[in-house]
Amino acid sequence: MMNVNVNVVLVGHVDHGKSTLIGRLLYDSESIMDERVEEIQKLAEEYKRRFEFAYFLDSFEDELKEERTIDTVSLMFKSKKNYYTITDVPGHKEFIKNMLTGASHADVAVLVVSADEGVQEQTRRHMFLLKMLGINQVFVVVNKMDAVDYKKERFEVVKKQISKLLNSFDYAAEEMLFIPASAMEGDNIYRRSEGMEWYEGPTLIEALDGVTQEGKEKPLRFVVQDVYEVEGEKIVVGRVESGMLRKGDEVISEPSCIKTKVEKIKVFEGELEEAATMDSVGIVIKGEVKRGDVFGLVGNPPKPAKEFLGEAVLLGKELKKGEPIELRCGTAKVKCEIKEIKEKIDSETGEVMEENPEEINEHDAATIVFATEPLVVEKFAEIPELGRFVLVKNERNIGAGVVLDV
Ligand code: GTP
Ligand code: MG
Repeated sequence: MMNVNVNVVLVGHVDHGKSTLIGRLLYDSESIMDERVEEIQKLAEEYKRRFEFAYFLDSFEDELKEERTIDTVSLMFKSKKNYYTITDVPGHKEFIKNMLTGASHADVAVLVVSADEGVQEQTRRHMFLLKMLGINQVFVVVNKMDAVDYKKERFEVVKKQISKLLNSFDYAAEEMLFIPASAMEGDNIYRRSEGMEWYEGPTLIEALDGVTQEGKEKPLRFVVQDVYEVEGEKIVVGRVESGMLRKGDEVISEPSCIKTKVEKIKVFEGELEEAATMDSVGIVIKGEVKRGDVFGLVGNPPKPAKEFLGEAVLLGKELKKGEPIELRCGTAKVKCEIKEIKEKIDSETGEVMEENPEEINEHDAATIVFATEPLVVEKFAEIPELGRFVLVKNERNIGAGVVLDV
């Protein structure tokens, strides 16, 4: 039987109890003592393979060094039902880093809000980032209920505050789950609280165990890394970023616009009949393709874009309307131009600061229309692996973003 591996991203204002909550989950799930450590480690190994995007990060090194002390924490634990990878992202840059490495490919977010302090600056900012990343499932933990004597009235006040904020970010707050909890005392995390009998909803772990990953099969996207000729055969090496690749498939590669057939799927050990998402393989085909190309099935091929709408956060230098820069997405690197800056957004609050500005500066976020050389991109919310990009100026990565619309 396959165990489901659920990716959880944990966000919330400083000191509202994220680390304590992780500790509580690890402790109550007895993950620390799990005898099947090996199994979990194997899963962790698999998970690590996703960090091949690491090369993106190299130029962020300097940025990250400044804040080494608050590095991202990613931990695994297992409930009776699922495996969980839970990532604590304390700050904005960690969020960006996660977005680039793929760790933020979260199935669900847990937003921690302290019952005594209520909504704070980072609560707002994190909600904005979740929305931007297309994370639609959010569980709200109203934490530190012990500090407000487990009072229902206080919970309702905070819930109302958060709901208002959620609605302002186009989340349907009415459909969301709010859990009154105490990470410190263990109320409603794993164990049902005795002090809050007025709450009848699920505990956090019950809610998480109910998360189903959308089973819908995603379209095939095979990203080309390299092309070799070996003994008269053309071998295209790359990775299946979404969907399934099968021997015999009729495929199209874009933007090269080559229609061909998958004659063989090769791995170091031999040949395969099929390859799944995240598998790195070599395929034998006919036709001229190149690094940066993306294969899809003939029935649902990737569409190269010359223009798309993205939301980017600048980590360095300014960016002007009309400016030519470079953009990296998947293995592609193309020239592009800032065609239009639609909105300048405060990355702290998520608020629109200016419409149609001429330029944006370090740490600003913005919705931008990019005009590019033909490039395969996908909406982040649909295929995140091809929905994130890095902006490059003078050989330096100056920002990162997600594709909102193509
Ligand atoms: P940063 O990583 O700095 O953003 O903080 P955090 O969100 O990880 O908070 P952390 O878990 O470090 O908790 C901050 C403080 O709140 C600590 O002193 C905790 O002991 C306390 N705390 C966390 N959860 C609870 C709770 O349920 N009840 C009470 N009373 N205190 C809590
Ligand atoms: Mg912490």
